[in-house]
Amino acid sequence: MRQKLFKPYLVGCAAAAVAFQVITFLSSGFALDFRLAIFLILLLVNAHYQVISVENKSSFSITFPLVFPAIVFFGPAWASVIATFGPISLDELELEWPIIAFNRGSLGLAAGVSALAFQWAGGEAFLVRSLPAAVFAYSLINHGLFMVGDFLRSDQPSPDWSFLGNTLKTIVPSIALSALFLAAYARYDVLGLIGAFFIYVVVRSGALLGHLESNYRIALIRVLLRAAYAKDPTLMAHLENVAYYSKRLAKACNYPIWRLHILDEAAYFHDIGKLEIDDAILKKIGKLTPDEYSEMKSHPTRGVEFLQEVPLPRSYKGIVENITGCHHERYDGTGYPHGLKGIEIPLEARIVAVADTWDAMVGKRCYRKAMSVPEAIAELRRVKGTQLDPELVERFIEIVENDNQHKQPLHALNQSPLHVL
Ligand SMILES: [Fe+2]
Repeated sequence: MRQKLFKPYLVGCAAAAVAFQVITFLSSGFALDFRLAIFLILLLVNAHYQVISVENKSSFSITFPLVFPAIVFFGPAWASVIATFGPISLDELELEWPIIAFNRGSLGLAAGVSALAFQWAGGEAFLVRSLPAAVFAYSLINHGLFMVGDFLRSDQPSPDWSFLGNTLKTIVPSIALSALFLAAYARYDVLGLIGAFFIYVVVRSGALLGHLESNYRIALIRVLLRAAYAKDPTLMAHLENVAYYSKRLAKACNYPIWRLHILDEAAYFHDIGKLEIDDAILKKIGKLTPDEYSEMKSHPTRGVEFLQEVPLPRSYKGIVENITGCHHERYDGTGYPHGLKGIEIPLEARIVAVADTWDAMVGKRCYRKAMSVPEAIAELRRVKGTQLDPELVERFIEIVENDNQHKQPLHALNQSPLHVL
């Protein structure tokens, strides 16, 4: 039923924008600085190609920061017209005409209402409050109109509020860029505007590269998890649990926050070398022969070799290799493969070793049943200082005792966004 309202809604928005422009022109007149207007429109045409996606249904664009000088210098009527006709693209012309009309009209309305909010909040003399007011009004109207359109077209029971939630994420960068564009124009005229636009394009390209790189790593981990699952479904759960507990322990140890996500992802790689170990050894019930044990002990080194083939960023690779290569080193120096001792063992590897030992104890294995939490805590205390870093063990026990008191699950429960199967 409500789908029938979809097209009238689209056309209604466009009509409302035209009505807004007519009314505001009649009250304010047509005065315009043509040179600035033309530059803004030229930059706005390009703005369409400079969008940054924010989650799934929203995006950040520099449309508003480029419309903002029009709001400041021309007022609601021209700001609305410039926003309507500026950021048009050739791709858009292939859409159905009501959608084109809605896209244009929603931008025009958002810019017009934003200009009114700007004036209401004190205008140019009170930028500290009028700029945020203008950005907020623009984002709210723009995303709100899209949210309603999306709801009318769909058969979901309620509107998708994530449109508005994502709006909040774009407000701060919008304010910062709008201030930059205005200041650049005030100081260096249209050349300042072009310079600010160029800086934005360069910064955005850098951000996009980072985004691609992170997507690439996550894809790599997904492939790894699929391979691990194919080899042994319990191995995948183990990787997830170790990543989950390593991250929590690292947080509790004030591990540098900017490296925390790397540690979280890198923990997934810690047993990657096991993919090369024979199933007969991996799944053997009973004691391993000396040869089998030495084959099993080769998995950290095999893992590092495996990862050397993967083109990861250097800082990331360092952490991944520390974890993969050193998670079986023991605090007293009797571990493998290098026999490192105490703090010679990289911190990431000591953290993962605690999480790995914990999950091995509380998880079921083919060769023994799972320990209870008190039994596993007692075992951790027994091996602290010999196998594991004593300080990390105590921190970890605080975490699991707290979880146990609050009846938290003993594992990651597939909470990771990387879970794919
Ligand atoms: Fe391992």
